[in-house]
Parts: sequence; C-alpha cells; structure tokens
Amino acid sequence: MAMSHRCGSVHGAGLGLRRAFLDAVAERPPEIVGFYEVAPENWIGVGGRKAHRLRVLTERHPFVCHGLSLSIGGPEPLDLDLVRQIKRFLDSHGIDDYTEHLSYCSDDGHLYDLLPIPFTDEAVRHVAGRVRQVQEILERRIALENVSYYAAPGRQMTEIAFVNAVLEEADCDLLLDINNIYVNGINHGYDPESFLAALPGERIRYGHVAGHYEEAPDLRVDTHGADVIDPVWALLGRAYEWFGVFPTLLERDFNIPPLEQLLREVEKIRRLQAVYRVAAPTGLAGA
Ligand SMILES: [Fe+2]
Repeated sequence: MAMSHRCGSVHGAGLGLRRAFLDAVAERPPEIVGFYEVAPENWIGVGGRKAHRLRVLTERHPFVCHGLSLSIGGPEPLDLDLVRQIKRFLDSHGIDDYTEHLSYCSDDGHLYDLLPIPFTDEAVRHVAGRVRQVQEILERRIALENVSYYAAPGRQMTEIAFVNAVLEEADCDLLLDINNIYVNGINHGYDPESFLAALPGERIRYGHVAGHYEEAPDLRVDTHGADVIDPVWALLGRAYEWFGVFPTLLERDFNIPPLEQLLREVEKIRRLQAVYRVAAPTGLAGA
C-alpha cells in the first residue's frame, strides 16, 4: 500500500536553526540543508542585525515554523494575539508550514517541561476545537507533533488512540517526531514500532529526529542535547519504509556542537532518504 503525504512546501533533510550557528549558516549556507525550522516566538519583535540575517535566509531558503508556546492543549484561553502575531510572521517571511506540540507549556518553557494533556474524550474535543480556531486565523492547515511526556494523569485511552483521535477530529496534519516515540516507548513500556505503525502516515507533513539524555536504563529525557542514537535512526528507516520518504529535520537545542558536526547528522538523514526513495513504500502489509 503506497502512502501519499500531505504536500508541504519543504523537501529533503532540514536543520533546526539556532542562534548559536545563525552567522555560520548565513555566511556559507550548507548545500545539503533542504530547509530550516525556527520558532516564531524566538523572533517576533526581534530587530537589528540578527533579524536582518534571518530575513536574508528566509528569502533564499525554504523554512517551516515550529511554535513553542501556543499551549494548544492547555486549560487557559488561547492567546489569540500570539496567533495573530504568528500569522504576520509567517506571511511576512513567506512561510507556509506551521507546527505545534500536542501538549501544553509550563512557565519555564523547557522543551522537556511541555505538559501532557489527559488522554480523554473531553481533551480530544478541547484540543481539536483549538486547532480548528488556530487554522482559521492562520489561514493554514497546521501539523501537531507527537510529544514526549513523563506522566499521564487521568488517562481514559492509550496515547496512540488519543493522538489519532485528535488528528482526525481536528483534521490536521502530523509532525512525526521519531525520537519522541522511542523515548516514550522506553519510559512508558511500549513497542515504538507498533506505535509508529498505528499512526496515519498520510497525515505526515514532516519529521523530527533528535538526541536525548539517558537518565536511567528505563528513563530517557528528551533534551535535544546529544547525537541521534542508532535505534532512532532505525525507527526513522522503518517510517520511510512503511510510509514513504518525508522531509525530516534535525533538532539540537543543548550542547550544540560546531555546525560541521550537525551537518554530518543532516547528511545521515539524506542518505537514509536516498536508500528508501529508490523503493516504493511497502505500507504496513509488509511490516
Ligand atoms: Fe520534535
């Protein structure tokens, strides 16, 4: 069974753009990077030389936006001013793709402090309604990212049932984070391949890979502070095999190494994509 993905505006292997290497990228844009990702919250209201460098890059290269603080699953009313600011940012930089986490934010804003939404029917309706509202204001179909979480309060359904129900009810796309599936599989004791196989491949807009921190053999923390590990590369290969190749981006937020070292991981994404591009996706019948 061949899968066709939602057509986003980006292709190939991407890199999450961080200020630590913004100048290096601006001075000599690496040819292997097919697209970049930025968090609009980190740039709204920023002026000066950095903002100018970003503008030059968004004019020359494909970009996607990955929101940090919309708190799509949170109990507070949606911050509609923020959504409108994001729309202006997307429009002014000519960016089509906007993604957010299927979770909500704590105050200190660390990625690994994103809070889980209770896996309930009520939460499905709550999140889906908010996604539709955001899509209307942005005038764009958005994608939600499957997140890592460390506790699951008040659950009435499994994580996979919850994720699928939200995507269906909101009728939005999926930002498939491969590392988060792996980390959750260890932390919550499930098989990452079975989780992956149960996701709607046709909704994948693009993917994320990242490294994480091994706190204990049965506890991994999604820090984005280390190299991607082999089992995560293998799981990405499985995703390409089953769903077809989709654009995939490397995230690195802590212990950021020199750009050349990050580019070696971007190159690894490209090689994996080349391997699976030659073969038609098997679909899950081959799993
Ligand atoms: Fe991610």
